[in-house]
This record gives sequence, structure tokens and C-alpha cells, in this order.
Amino acid sequence: MLAPMQGLTNSALRRLYLQKYQPDLVFTEFVRVQSQTRKRVAKNELSELQDHVAEVPLVVQLIGNDPAALAEAAVLVQAGGVKHINLNLGCPYGRMTTGATGGELLRHPQQLAAMLAALRRVCRGSFSVKCRAGYGDLDQWQSLLPVFADSGVDFIILHPRTVAQRYNGAADHRITAAMAAKTRLPVIANGDINSAAMARALLTQTGVAGLMIGRGALADPVIFQRIRGTAPQMVDSELRRRELGRFISDLWPSYLQKFCGERQALMKIKDVLNFIPDPDLQRDLGKLKRATSAATFLARLQGHFAIAPDSECF
Ligand SMILES: Cc1cc2nc3c(=O)[nH]c(=O)nc-3n(C[C@H](O)[C@H](O)[C@H](O)COP(=O)(O)O)c2cc1C
Repeated sequence: MLAPMQGLTNSALRRLYLQKYQPDLVFTEFVRVQSQTRKRVAKNELSELQDHVAEVPLVVQLIGNDPAALAEAAVLVQAGGVKHINLNLGCPYGRMTTGATGGELLRHPQQLAAMLAALRRVCRGSFSVKCRAGYGDLDQWQSLLPVFADSGVDFIILHPRTVAQRYNGAADHRITAAMAAKTRLPVIANGDINSAAMARALLTQTGVAGLMIGRGALADPVIFQRIRGTAPQMVDSELRRRELGRFISDLWPSYLQKFCGERQALMKIKDVLNFIPDPDLQRDLGKLKRATSAATFLARLQGHFAIAPDSECF
């Protein structure tokens, strides 16, 4: 699964992954559920969902804190054709003016149980949660498991860090394995999966039902195919350059179409480039990131990343 990433996994990026890199499932960035206004979901967030035209299911991730508002939002997006709903219980920055959301909710298990029940009642397709191992305690998942099981969630995506940890330290997948061993619910491993070898080891050694990959899929979009064995496992710097060049040049026309004007598209594509930490290519990626016009960006892409001038992006 391609992980939800706010500011990154918009409909254009998701479409490119679906067309070229074949994750089994894609998620929206979190969709804020408003409890204070009559509109549960902002219009621009709803139109992002309607862009999805693929066989591969789209999972809409909701973030919020009011059970009734969350349920209404789920009904609303399902009326637009969405079948799968996920609740964000991991975002470490999840405090709205109206109260705790995201990972903060792990501090309020009773409130959480009410939200899960309200969502389960209205979700017609799958309903899942994406959570951290705990708020401040890496063992808290043990007491959360019965809450998830009792509410009838279909699967759990676990990012085995605490909320308080944010992105510090490492995701400890011994916790993922322990959770998978303790519940009959399918557990999906997420966090720091940066190579096909690691992905396969997790699949074979931890009893998880699947994998969700975020930053690792931006750094190496081909990772899904590498895991399946349909793309090379060993990548020399020339191939890496070609793969990244193709990714960026495929993304450019769809960003131009999605965002208003070249400046905005350039800004958004640089956000993606910031997640490609490649020591061998840093100099050339840096040149792309420093480009101040689309013309310079494309010229550098052509010059440094082996993109043919007749590519669709030129
Ligand atoms: C820039 C950024 C934005 C994110 N936005 C979301 C989000 O909208 N919803 C969510 O559940 N997780 C979000 N996450 C967390 C990721 O989905 C994922 O759980 C985390 O990055 C660990 O997985 P990874 O190591 O494969 O990236 C975000 C992460 C990053 C880096």
C-alpha cells in the first residue's frame, strides 16, 4: 500500500503510482472532518476523491474527533462512490481547535471507542485504523487491541513508534510482529520500510498481512515492483538515475495539470524531491530543487537525468 502523506499523495501522485508502480491500495492524504461547520468535508477535499478512476481501490482517510461528524463524513464520501474508510490515529500534529485528533486520540481510549463504533455502523466497505504503537508508551497497543477488535475494524495499520516520538528513532517491527501474533485482525506493517529486502523479510518473518510504504516509496517509486520481483533488485547509479528521471518527468505534466500554473507545480514537485535522499544524486537533485523556472527545471532534468527531449514532459 502507498501510505497517506499530507501535502504529497494528492490525486496526481496517486494516479502516477497506480499507472506505473502498482501498489495494491492507495490512500488519500488525511481528510479533515469538521465538527463546527455544517459542511463535514471541504469541497476541495471532496473533489480530490472524485479524481480517482482506477481499478485499484482508494481508501479515504478521515481525521477528526466527533463521532457523529465522522460518521456523517463517511456517509458523504461513500455517497460519492468511495468504498473504503480509514481513521487516522497516528498523526503527531493532530490537534484541531476543537480537540484531540490523530495520534492524540490514543490518550482518550473511551472517546476513541465511540468514534470507532460510529464509523463502523456506517461504513459499508472496509473500515480500518492507522495507528502508532501508543501515545507515549510503546506497549499501549496491547490495551488498544481489544478496543479495535470490539469495534469491528477490518484491519490495523501499525507504525510502531509512539506519537510522542514523532519520527525520531526507528520503527520497531518487533512490536508489529507481536501485534500480529496477538490478534486475528490483519496487521499491516508501516514505518521505515526502505528496501525490497526489508519488505520481504517483514512479510516472511513477522506474520503481517501486508505492508504500507510512505517515504520509501517516494525515495524509490519502483519499490513495489522490486518487492514483487518484477523490477531489478540491484540498481546501479545509472539505472537509478533513469528510474528517477522517468518518475519526475512523468509527474511533471500531471502536476502542471493539477496545480495552478508552472510556479505552483514546480513548488509541489520540489516537495516530492525533498523525500529522495540519494547521496549519489544529491548534486543533480539539488540543481532541480534550485530551479526557479519550469524551463530551467526541465532543461536540468533532461541534462542530468537522461530524459529524452521528446518525452511527454517537454
Ligand atoms: C510528509 C508526511 C505526511 C504524512 N501525512 C500523513 C497523513 O496524512 N496520514 C497518515 O496517516 N500518515 C501520514 N504520514 C505518516 C505516513 O503515512 C507513515 O505512517 C510514516 O511516514 C511512516 O512510514 P514510512 O517510514 O514508510 O514513511 C505522513 C508522513 C509524512 C512524512
